Amino acid sequence: MNEKQRLEGQQVETANSSDKKSAKDYSKYFEQVITAPSLKEAKKRGKEEVKYHNDFAIPEEFRGMGNGRKFYIRTYGCQMNEHDTEVMAGIFLALGYEPTDNTEDANVILLNTCAIRENAENKVFGELGHLKSLKLEKPDLLLGVCGCMSQEESVVNKILKTYQQVDMIFGTHNIHRLPNILNEAYMSKEMVVEVWSKEGDVIENLPKVRRGKIKAWVNIMYGCDKFCTYCIVPFTRGKERSRRPEEIIQEVRHLAAQGYQEVTLLGQNVNAYGKDLEGVNYGLGELMDELRKIDIPRIRFTTSHPRDFDDRLIEVLAKGGNLMDHIHLPVQSGSTDVLKIMARKYSREQYLELVRKIKAAIPNVALTTDIIVGYPNETDEQFEETMSLYREVGYELAYTFIYSPREGTPAAKMEDNVPMEVKKARLQRLNALVNELSLEAMKKYKGQIVDVLVEGESKNNPDVLAGYTSRSKLVNFAAPKSAIGKIVKVKITEAKTWSLNGEMVEELEPAEVK
Ligand code: 5AD
Ligand code: SF4
Repeated sequence: MNEKQRLEGQQVETANSSDKKSAKDYSKYFEQVITAPSLKEAKKRGKEEVKYHNDFAIPEEFRGMGNGRKFYIRTYGCQMNEHDTEVMAGIFLALGYEPTDNTEDANVILLNTCAIRENAENKVFGELGHLKSLKLEKPDLLLGVCGCMSQEESVVNKILKTYQQVDMIFGTHNIHRLPNILNEAYMSKEMVVEVWSKEGDVIENLPKVRRGKIKAWVNIMYGCDKFCTYCIVPFTRGKERSRRPEEIIQEVRHLAAQGYQEVTLLGQNVNAYGKDLEGVNYGLGELMDELRKIDIPRIRFTTSHPRDFDDRLIEVLAKGGNLMDHIHLPVQSGSTDVLKIMARKYSREQYLELVRKIKAAIPNVALTTDIIVGYPNETDEQFEETMSLYREVGYELAYTFIYSPREGTPAAKMEDNVPMEVKKARLQRLNALVNELSLEAMKKYKGQIVDVLVEGESKNNPDVLAGYTSRSKLVNFAAPKSAIGKIVKVKITEAKTWSLNGEMVEELEPAEVK
């Protein structure tokens, strides 16, 4: 963000009550603070300097704002959003609010939204509809929409026009402004809109309340400059900007000291880590090489882009230890022609070469991926190439999606000759293959003893505990609750498509057994 935008952003915009009632021209909200996704504009942004801030503090006048009040945040979408929710929860607590997991008890409800596909957005609009009656019952309730959807002009417009039960809309770059936004909403009782476009800074010392004491997310970078032609993220999350290594290392050290067993490093494209850091040649490989020396049992990272996945990172990951042998490597399509239209900047062959190198260096690696089917004009042959690549790589799991046009992205303007039934049929075929290979991968574990980080009781049966192996396989097994939070040895007795069953084969220290 440049200085001009920063200063403009200090101004919280409010819609006056007459605007809320009559369908007026809302363009004034977009003049300064919001720009519609524009590839041309966004691509210019690389030149702007990233500012690092270490001066976040709850303004004196807002302390105690939350006394006697409760907050509820519903999170949609990816881990990045989950982690943003942890930061917002930290800010709420610092303001004196208490958490609640019940919307009826809440004085403030936030929907932290996802814009990646249309159905993600529809869920949020549906929820806003449900919350209308609660808002009518409790006029003092504050209802806010934040996260990726708030960064889209069309969404903000739609909320302003049709969802007048909403009190606040703020974007992904405005989280640290939550105290001011809440204050403004209490003062004015009018819709508060605060969204900054395009870039964003790095704000270091925001409070966070992590969910749980076992696994933690750590941002290493924000934003994305890859501009895959289908993807809204470069517009909603701003430009690529890396946190400084020393800040990340300190955060991981601190988590280790607090007894966390696992950290997952987060970024939309973690392999671009460090590219924007001036005057140093320091990438994800270097960062992982330093982090692996920290006394924390497990380190993971997500999400990777194959184009930036370099040899240095492979060399470091091959050192093993606390660096986990699971890599999520989204391929999106097995067809070089489709990859080109997606602007993924690698071919099928280059991807396979990367997989070959990774497997040679880390023989036990588990690879998983993301795939989009039914890209505009995808032919049967091109889809078959995705199917054959899937087998060739031997993925252990995939997240599969039907292409969903996102307004403002280049692909949304492409004509598309693939009927929805064809797309659905392709997805079904791909999913059948995903299931087949998942089960195959799971069966290999039968009889093996694996290390499981125990996260808690299984969802379906409180007598059974559940956790994950180093290669991210879910394992259910009977064991005393004192195993929760520890890494224990489990012998696998049964393999299913999505999970393994087993028996714990180690004695917990007597003092620890209840
Ligand atoms: N339509 C369908 N899937 C998408 N993804 C991103 N954008 C879209 C879209 N417009 C998928 C990609 C990405 C994952 C997080 O979501 O596979 O890796
Ligand atoms: Fe979207 Fe990922 Fe491509 Fe970035 S690299 S544009 S986040 S799919």
